[in-house]
Amino acid sequence: MQLRKNVLLVTCFLCCFFNSLYAQPARVREDFDKNWTFHLGDIAGAKSTSFDDASWRKLNLPHDWSIELPFDSTSPTGTGGGALRGGLGWYRKTFTLPASDKGKNIFIDFDGVYCNSEVFINGHSFGVRPNGYISFRYDLTPYLKYGSEKNVIAVKVDNSRQPNSRWYSGSGIYRNVWLVKTGSTYVDNWGTYVKTPSVSAASAKVNITTTLCGTGDYCDVTTTILNAAGAPVATQTQKNLHVGALQTASQAFTIRSPVLWSIENPYLYKAVTRIVSKGKTTDEYSTVFGIRSYQFDVDKGFFLNGKQVKIVGVCNHHDLGCLGTAINTRALERQLQIMKGMGVNGIRTSHNPPAPELLDLCDKMGFIVMNETFDMWKRSKNKYDYSNDFDEWYQKDLKDQVLRDRNHPSVFIWSVGNEIPEQWAKDGDTSGGAYLRTMQNIVRSLDDRPTVTANNEVGASNQLLQTGINELVGYNYHHQHWPADSVQKKWGRKPFIVTESVSALQTRGHYDMPSDSMRIWPQRWDLPVANANADLTCSAYENCFTPWGSSHLATLKTFLKHESISGMFVWTGFDYIGEPTPYPWPARSSYFGIVDLAGFPKDVYYLYQSLFTSKNVLHLFPHWNWQPGQTIDMWAYYNNADEVELFINGKSQGVKKKAADDLHVMWRVKYEAGRVEAVSRKAGKVVATRLIRTAGAPARIILEADRRTIQANGKDLSFITIKVVDKDGNLVPDAANKIQFTVNGAGFIAGVDNGDPTSLESFKASERKAFNGLCLAVVQSNGKPGSIKLQAKSAGLSGASIDIISK
Ligand code: GAL
Repeated sequence: MQLRKNVLLVTCFLCCFFNSLYAQPARVREDFDKNWTFHLGDIAGAKSTSFDDASWRKLNLPHDWSIELPFDSTSPTGTGGGALRGGLGWYRKTFTLPASDKGKNIFIDFDGVYCNSEVFINGHSFGVRPNGYISFRYDLTPYLKYGSEKNVIAVKVDNSRQPNSRWYSGSGIYRNVWLVKTGSTYVDNWGTYVKTPSVSAASAKVNITTTLCGTGDYCDVTTTILNAAGAPVATQTQKNLHVGALQTASQAFTIRSPVLWSIENPYLYKAVTRIVSKGKTTDEYSTVFGIRSYQFDVDKGFFLNGKQVKIVGVCNHHDLGCLGTAINTRALERQLQIMKGMGVNGIRTSHNPPAPELLDLCDKMGFIVMNETFDMWKRSKNKYDYSNDFDEWYQKDLKDQVLRDRNHPSVFIWSVGNEIPEQWAKDGDTSGGAYLRTMQNIVRSLDDRPTVTANNEVGASNQLLQTGINELVGYNYHHQHWPADSVQKKWGRKPFIVTESVSALQTRGHYDMPSDSMRIWPQRWDLPVANANADLTCSAYENCFTPWGSSHLATLKTFLKHESISGMFVWTGFDYIGEPTPYPWPARSSYFGIVDLAGFPKDVYYLYQSLFTSKNVLHLFPHWNWQPGQTIDMWAYYNNADEVELFINGKSQGVKKKAADDLHVMWRVKYEAGRVEAVSRKAGKVVATRLIRTAGAPARIILEADRRTIQANGKDLSFITIKVVDKDGNLVPDAANKIQFTVNGAGFIAGVDNGDPTSLESFKASERKAFNGLCLAVVQSNGKPGSIKLQAKSAGLSGASIDIISK
C-alpha cells in the first residue's frame, strides 16, 4: 500500500517536473543588460574568472562611458569626436545557469560594442571584433558551467587609439546584449530569409528560407505566418530534414489579399518557425516581415506598392544627444516621431550599421531606410579608423549586416560606402572598383535590394560610378548636377537618388540679418572659418551653409522640380555630437540638424512640414525682441493657403504670396515692441494665425513632458522641456537662466541639454542653463512603479514641478 502511494507520488512529481520542462519555451532570449561591473582603464587579470571586481562600478547596459566624461579641448578625439575622450574599459558579469540548461546551445549576442571588443567567457577569448557598429554572436556552450558554479563574462573595449571617427562614436557596450538558449536543432543566427517575389492586392508569394544547425538529427520544420492580430494565415511543414552541421529549409506560401506594408500603414506579419526533433520542440524562432513591392524608375523615381513616392529622408548619426550613444528605444522612437512630424519618410543610417531597434521602429512606423555600412574602405579618413581593419574584416562585416537586416521591410537600399576616398584614382590606386565588385557580390549572394555608394565626386573620373556596379547612382550634394540629363550623360539610364544633401548651418533661435545675404562657412572646404560670429552661432534663416552644401531652400527647389530624383537624405535630421562645422573648440556638436541636439526644432523644420505634411502650417519667425527701429526680416513658412498678411501692433505690413518656386514669404519691417501677427488665408477665409509678443524679463519656468506616463521598466523615458517665460507666459527668446533640477520617486535624470553646440556643461547633471529660452531634462524610470516628481528652480524665477507616473 505504502509502496503504491510512493510510486504514485513519484509519478506525480515526475509528471509535474516534465510538464514544467516542456512548458519552457524552446528558445529563450534573455535581456542580458543587468548587473555588470565596469572599470575605466586597463587592468591586468580582468579577463580571468578569479579576478576580484568587487570594487568596480556596478551598472546596467547599454552604457557609453565617454558621455560621462568632461568636454576636453585636449581630447585626442578632437572636437570632431565631440571633445569627449575614448579610452579603454573593462566590463564583467558573473552569472549562473540552472542545471536544466545543460545540453542546450547557449549564445551571447552583442548588438554593438565601440570598439575593438574582446570577449572572454570563463577566461576563454573569442578574439577581437574591431568594428564598433556590427552585431555579433559567440557560442558560449563549450565553456559554460551549470548549477551553483559561477560563469564570468569579461569584455575588454578598446577605444583608446584616437582619432578613429569623424563624429562622436561613444565608447563601451552601448547597445543591448542578449543571452540566447536553444535546443539541439535550431535556427542559425539571423537564420531566416523572407522574400516576397510577387506582390499584388489580390495575393502575395512569400518564400521563407531557414538555415538550421544541429548535430545530425532529423527534424520537422513548421512555419506559420501570423497576421498583425496574431491570427495564422498560412502554415507549412517540411518533414524529416536531416540536419548535419547546416541544412536549409525552403517554404513557399501564398497569402490572399495581403495587407501591404506602406509608409502610411506599416503592416507587419510574423513568421514563426518551429523545429521538432525526436518528438520535442527544440527551437521556435520568429521573423517579423512586411509584404510590399517597390521599384526605382530612371524617369519617375521611387514607387512603393505601385504608387509614386518621393523619399524625403534625413541622415542621422547614432548618438541620442545627452544620452550619448547608449541605445534607448524610447529616445530613438522620439527622434523618429519628431521626424515623422515634419513629413520625413526616410532614414539613412549614416555611416554605419544601426542598432537593431532603429530598424524595428522604422518597420513599425513606416520609414524607408538606406542602410549604410562604411564611412571608409582601405583609404583612411582618420589615422586609427576602420581602414586599418578593412581588408581583414569588411567582407564579414558587410555579410553580417545584410544577414541581420534583410528581413526588415523598412530597408530598401544598401549603401556600401559614404564618400569613399577610393572614388579617386590616387597615385595610380584604382582598387575602388575591385572592392566595390566584391561587396556587390556579397550583397547579391544574400539579398536583391539595390546597392548604392554615396559619392561626393560627381565627375566622370569617379572610379566607383565608372564601374556601373551599383543599381542606383547616388550623389552627395552638387544639386546643380541632379537633373536627369546631367546624371544620365555620365552614368547611363540608371535610377538616381540623393544620398546626402544640404549641410546648412543653424543655431536654434539665432538670426543674422539681412536674411538674404549668404554666409558660406567655412569659405572653402579645406580652410578654417574666417569672419564668422564671435559667439560661434550660425543663423537660423536660410542664409548660412557649407561651401559643399546649400540652404535647405535651394536644395528643395531642385529636389521638387525633378521627377527623376527618387529621394534625398538631408544632412541631418538631428544635430549630433561632434563635427561642429564651421567652428573650433569650444563648439563640440553639429549645426547641421533640422532639429537641435535636445530635440527642439529649428525654424526650417516647419518648411518641411509645410511641404510634406497635410497639417495646416503657418510658421512665423524670428522672435519679437529687437532694438527699437531695427530692420527685421520676418519670414513665414505656410501651406494650404493662398496668401499671408503680416501685422505689427495691428497695422498691416502687406499681403505676401509665394510666387513661382518660392517656398516662403518675407517682410522687411521696422521693429517696434508689442505684437507681430501673421494670418494665412485661402479664398479669403482664414486658415491659420500666429502671434508673437515682445517678451519681458524672465519670470517663471514652465515644464512640459512629452509623456506623463511611462513604463516602470528601468528604460523608459519622459522628455521634459523647460521654458523660461516672462510674467505673461511669453517665451523669453534669449533666456539663459541656469535651471536646477531635483527628482523624487521612481526615476532619475538620465541627461540634460539645451541644444547649444558650444555648451561645455555636462550632459549628465542635475542642472542646465537655458539656451535661447529652452532646456531639456530626460527622466528615466528606475524600474519601480510609482510617481516621479521633477522640480525645476532658478534664482529669481518662480519654479515649477511636474509629476510623471511610472507603471
Ligand atoms: C559630408 C559627409 C558627412 C558630413 C557632412 C558635413 O560630406 O558625408 O559625414 O561630414 O559632409 O557637411
